[in-house]
Amino acid sequence: MKDLLSLYDLTKDDITRIIKRASILKAKHKKGEQYYPLKDKTLGMIFEKPSTRTRVSFETGMFQLGGQAIFLRWADTQLGRGESTHDTAKVLSRYIDAIMIRTFSQATAEDLASFADIPVINGLTDHCHPCQILADILTVYERRGSFDGLKAVYIGDGNNIAVSWINVALRLGFDLTLACPDGHGPDVNVLSRAQKEASSKIVLITDPVEAVKGADVISTDTWVSMGQEGERQQRLDAFKGYQVNEELIASSKKNVMIMHCLPAHRGEEISDGVIDGENSVVFDQAENRLHAQKAVLELLIGRS
Ligand code: CP
Ligand code: NVA
Repeated sequence: MKDLLSLYDLTKDDITRIIKRASILKAKHKKGEQYYPLKDKTLGMIFEKPSTRTRVSFETGMFQLGGQAIFLRWADTQLGRGESTHDTAKVLSRYIDAIMIRTFSQATAEDLASFADIPVINGLTDHCHPCQILADILTVYERRGSFDGLKAVYIGDGNNIAVSWINVALRLGFDLTLACPDGHGPDVNVLSRAQKEASSKIVLITDPVEAVKGADVISTDTWVSMGQEGERQQRLDAFKGYQVNEELIASSKKNVMIMHCLPAHRGEEISDGVIDGENSVVFDQAENRLHAQKAVLELLIGRS
């Protein structure tokens, strides 16, 4: 594994290995153990979109592993003035040990990875958000110890988070039901590929009440992703009836885990009562970004 661009590119073993290693690194960190496998290593972090969790967890993760990170705002680099991803990748490969990129187009991240001589990690594109979903499944693993018999549900916009849930359900072999309004389902190619290749049930429906029946996990995300601000009102109208609230989760299991990658738009895709309620694991998910990404960083650049 050279890069982390999409969870589709990983095997079940890769994902399981990352999750188990993340649990070990988390335990080491909680004990205050010093562990510096990335001493003298540098991660460059290119951001074309805003971030709180991704930036802070990657930067802190590098620091905790004995390395360092450089924050590179796209617009402040020569990329923002038109320097090619090819030349940028070649130059950065001469200085640093890995690149994390948050950008709009998945093709930009893939191009960068194909030209770079160092690992490239996708820190979110319009297409998918693999690092987030690694943290999410670490959160599920901590509570259940396995993915056997898991029924996960995703409610709302078929966006980058939905795509990464589909890819992880395919790879780990658990059931996933997505409930999205007509016209707002996930990438049809990703969904049909997963349905063709999966050993489990991956289904898209429109009824959120039907979807959450018997759910172990209910995940949702904003209806207005970064870059879609101009469509805000149309999108709020389209997603009416898809809010994850007390009434909706009453049809799921009593101990259902409520997940959200954050940032949340409280009162839109999720109610205050649910995100702050006893079933919510949203801040554990956010914390687990740090631990899951440390496992990814150690795997990609720890042994060279
Ligand atoms: N969940 C997530 O990626 O958050 P940020 O946009 O704050 O990085
Ligand atoms: N779907 C959201 C995820 C934010 C972490 C977005 O792309 O803005």
